[in-house]
Amino acid sequence: DRVFALNGPNLNLLGQRQPEIYGAATLADVERECAALCGELGLALEFRQSNHEGVLVDWVQEARGAAKAIVINPGAFTHTSVALLDALNAFDGPVIEVHISNVHKREDFRRHSYVSLRADGVIAGCGTDGYGLALRRVANLLARP
Ligand code: DQA
Repeated sequence: DRVFALNGPNLNLLGQRQPEIYGAATLADVERECAALCGELGLALEFRQSNHEGVLVDWVQEARGAAKAIVINPGAFTHTSVALLDALNAFDGPVIEVHISNVHKREDFRRHSYVSLRADGVIAGCGTDGYGLALRRVANLLARP
C-alpha cells in the first residue's frame, strides 16, 4: 500500500532550524528512517516537502487514487490553511497529523489546527520519532480498519 508523507513550509531546514525545538535530524535523515520502516511494514513511501500551500493541496489531491493513507506535517499551514483542510476532506483514507514539537507547550496560536478537524490521529511532541509512530498507526489502520 502506498502512503504519502507530506511536509510543509520550513521543514526543509530541519536540523538547522531551531534545533532546540525541532532536533538535530535533517529531513533527509527522517526520510531515510521512514523508508526503512516502511520496508518493514510493507508500505510504499512517497516522501515530499514543499514551502508552498498550493503545492501541498495538489499533492493531497494527487493522493486520491494514488495513496491509501496520508501522514502530514503541515508546518505553519496547520494553523492557517482551510484549503489544506478542504483537500484532506476530499481524501478517503486515514490521515495522521504529525508535529515534531509539542504544539500545546508553545504559543497559543499553535494550539489550533485546521488539519485536526480531518485527521484521524495526531502525534505531537515526540520529535522526529512521530513520523515512525504515524506510519505504524497507518499500517495498523490499513490492516484492520
Ligand atoms: C510544526 C509545528 C508548527 O507550529 C510549526 O509552524 C512548524 C513545525 C512541528 O512539526 O512541530 O513549522 O508542525
